[in-house]
Amino acid sequence: MTLVNANGASIPTLGFGTFRMEAADTERMVSHVLKQGYRHIDTAKIYGNEAAVGQGFKASAIPRPDVFLTTKVWVANYGRDAFLASVDESLKKLETDYVDLLLLHWPNTAVSLEEQIAALNDVAKAGKARHIGVSNFNTTLMKEAARLSRMPLANNQIEYHPYLDQQPVIATASELGMSITAYYAMADGKVIADRMLQEIAAVHKRSVAQVVLRWIVQQGCVVLSKTVSETRAAENAAIFDFELSADDMGTIAKLARPDGRIVSPDGLAPEWDVAG
Ligand SMILES: NC(=O)c1ccc[n+]([C@@H]2O[C@H](COP(=O)([O-])OP(=O)(O)OC[C@H]3O[C@@H](n4cnc5c(N)ncnc54)[C@H](OP(=O)(O)O)[C@@H]3O)[C@@H](O)[C@H]2O)c1
Repeated sequence: MTLVNANGASIPTLGFGTFRMEAADTERMVSHVLKQGYRHIDTAKIYGNEAAVGQGFKASAIPRPDVFLTTKVWVANYGRDAFLASVDESLKKLETDYVDLLLLHWPNTAVSLEEQIAALNDVAKAGKARHIGVSNFNTTLMKEAARLSRMPLANNQIEYHPYLDQQPVIATASELGMSITAYYAMADGKVIADRMLQEIAAVHKRSVAQVVLRWIVQQGCVVLSKTVSETRAAENAAIFDFELSADDMGTIAKLARPDGRIVSPDGLAPEWDVAG
């Protein structure tokens, strides 16, 4: 498994996502993918499946230090006391003393960003998170969060797939020494039927899913994929033994469109950056 290094963190390039997964599927798949070779699991308090992630991890018998575990604090818990209690509850459910990466799940103004970042730092200082970061932050918020943080921020987890140009956020992350993790890499399944992607996949004798995941990792980003299928999990992991050409990379980037964003919940989404 390759790693993405950023501000002191070494993050396994491919992570297994657990959003919208029932507890039984989560436990089964987390155990399975860890045995299969995945070394990075992504969950969140709001997914309601941290206990199942913990059970799956235990069942895999993979040593704790070998696995990179990410969870996120939900916006309703950004007040200091609630924040600390949320992290403790996540750790208890995950049956671990620490997570490798703790993220603010979405920007939120109910509590000042300064207070949110201070809580993240304090959790890290207490040894409960090895690295800290954000999710769904625009470039302005990323810069502000980085300025406020005593510890360097390691990551911004964002929606990223061929239909959404995220160059402004990727460039800002690079300036700040941060990494990007792509979620919804398959555009919630929409990429699979794309003619252009099917043509590129045929040339490489790969699936569209593999081409899209490869397109993201070849840009130096971390990528998440979720599936309830053992076969698809294996397919999604087989992306480190082929390379897309510069032409392929450019052709896929040109699939981006102004209405390509899928995840933009009212009351949570910040003012998104517009690519030039
Ligand atoms: N930070 C945030 O706000 C945020 C938001 C959303 C997601 N995330 C994280 O990102 C992870 C990834 O997102 P996602 O998986 O939901 O979106 P996705 O990558 O766009 O995947 C969408 C669907 O594609 C299917 N799929 C997976 N592998 C496939 C393959 N090889 N061929 C065909 N279809 C395939 C899966 O369905 P099946 O299960 O039926 O295979 C999955 O439900 C989440 O699990 C979560 O951890 C974070």
